[in-house]
Amino acid sequence: MLLHIPDLLNADELRRARALLADAPWANGRESAGVQAARVKNNEQLPHDCDAAREIRTMILRGLDRSPQFFSAALPRKVFTPRINRYGGLANYYGDHIDNAIRALPDGQRVRTDISCTVFLAEPDEYEGGELCIADTYGEQAVKLPAGHMVLYPGTSLHQVRPVTRGARLACFFWVESMVRSDEQRRLLYELDMNLLRLRQQHGEQPETTALTGTYHNLLRMWAST
Ligand code: NI
Repeated sequence: MLLHIPDLLNADELRRARALLADAPWANGRESAGVQAARVKNNEQLPHDCDAAREIRTMILRGLDRSPQFFSAALPRKVFTPRINRYGGLANYYGDHIDNAIRALPDGQRVRTDISCTVFLAEPDEYEGGELCIADTYGEQAVKLPAGHMVLYPGTSLHQVRPVTRGARLACFFWVESMVRSDEQRRLLYELDMNLLRLRQQHGEQPETTALTGTYHNLLRMWAST
């Protein structure tokens, strides 16, 4: 499932993030890529222990916490430390690759990358190119969203960031290990949850919505590991 979540960050947070990024200590992005990916990766990344990365990361995690849509779509068990990158100038693309399946956190804990997420931090008219292209079962999707918006897609997808030919593309990316490993099952749960929400808005609580909410939870109980 490929999903667009608008306004993960609000205007104040975006302004603060941009101010932090204006004089951040950018480094070569190959450090976090696997062997195949490093060959096609050419961008810049913030060192994960610098102040700007720390503050933006906290901001993003706070945004995730207040988004019921993110929770419903991702059913997160673990979130891998968000990273911030920049594409522009000579370091301006990331060719086709599939992200490593397993990532290790600094404390040695492992995270399976079921879901990939990108939060855009620059407005689309600030740069040329830089689309995130995701090979999906329905064909290739080219994603370029307003600043503060997020795209979420299966970690199993082949994807790339097209060359940025003008300006700079700033983004935050991270992976989620989901309580529900299968993308197909997550999608069913998400659709059931979202449609229940709409039914409740339109008709209030009915015996049917109560029963279907039970079905949702019973499916989650059957499919989730905590
Ligand atoms: Ni990737």
